Amino acid sequence: METIRWGILATGSIASSFAQAVTQTNGGRVVAVGSRADATARRFAERHGIPRWYGSYDGLIEDPAVDVVYVATTNDLHRANTLEALAAGKHVLCEKPLALNSTQARDMVTAAGDAGRFLMEAMWMRFQPYFFTLEELIAANRLGPVRWIQADFGFPAQSGPGGRLFNLGLGGGSLLDLGVYPLTFSYSLLGEPDEIDAVATLHESGVDEQVGILLRHSGGGVSALSCSLVADTSTEATVAGPDGRIRVHAPFHHSPMLTLQQAGATVEVFDTSYEGNGLRFEAEEVHRCLQDGLLESPRVPHRDTLAVMGLMDEVRRQVGVVYPGE
Ligand SMILES: NC(=O)c1ccc[n+]([C@@H]2O[C@H](COP(=O)([O-])OP(=O)(O)OC[C@H]3O[C@@H](n4cnc5c(N)ncnc54)[C@H](OP(=O)(O)O)[C@@H]3O)[C@@H](O)[C@H]2O)c1
Repeated sequence: METIRWGILATGSIASSFAQAVTQTNGGRVVAVGSRADATARRFAERHGIPRWYGSYDGLIEDPAVDVVYVATTNDLHRANTLEALAAGKHVLCEKPLALNSTQARDMVTAAGDAGRFLMEAMWMRFQPYFFTLEELIAANRLGPVRWIQADFGFPAQSGPGGRLFNLGLGGGSLLDLGVYPLTFSYSLLGEPDEIDAVATLHESGVDEQVGILLRHSGGGVSALSCSLVADTSTEATVAGPDGRIRVHAPFHHSPMLTLQQAGATVEVFDTSYEGNGLRFEAEEVHRCLQDGLLESPRVPHRDTLAVMGLMDEVRRQVGVVYPGE
């Protein structure tokens, strides 16, 4: 197996976790990092044992030794960074949300197709061991047809100056950062909704602090989803049908345990915990796809990413969150 050579674009907190995750993969190596400033790039490279660093994103993107760029900038920059990397002939794994809106996301998917390069949203939840177990339990008809999903993701975030989460210009807000998980969870299991109703409270900066979303799916399912940057919520999920329910223990997007309950009693517990860094599974998916010559992941296809982006557009339309330039 040929080594897949990663370049990391940006040096924030998730970039750091990802650099560590790649060291735990089969077949991947981080060969370069790029940052807006020399000092942060060099520090990051030293901390993670990365051989080359650049004090600009362009330097990284143009490095001929990089096969695939991991875009880990703030949400407002995902589109531009991804388009530049694709234009330079790189494959791209871009952090979630893929973009600010579905128009931007479609541009990115089109550009990847035109360039003949791989593109995936870094939706690491879909590669977690628990998610495969959950799908197996549903396929084995342990619940009957799924009729109900509840999922929430919330924590009280720092709202001081400099924080990206409450900054409209950086693509902040609870929906794009956190709500993308419950929406992807629900979409993955119940598909496209035919009705969507959202409410939110907005921060003085104009971003959504918290959002409640109800979806009615065409197959007869209902999802009740929420996300919050101002409340310490359970961050659990429940998937239910007439014959039982599965509790997806917190944190539901990388859950360590599932509990199958029927008629109010626990009938089986599934240990879905693992050692090490949970971002490594998505990195290994990229390795597999590149080695198989795929331009998109069968597990996180462009269609699903675009569908969830479209749902987020509609939620924002209903609650009145508009990013600069939209
Ligand atoms: N998969 C996950 O579990 C997960 C978790 C958290 C976040 N995320 C996603 O990953 C992305 C980054 O999140 P993060 O938590 O790592 O954010 P962060 O710690 O604030 O880092 C963001 C990085 O973006 C770069 N950047 C470029 N322009 C910037 C600006 N004007 N202000 C601030 N930073 C700027 C900076 O890198 P340089 O200084 O090196 O240029 C900065 O370190 C977001 O899209 C977020 O949604 C994913």
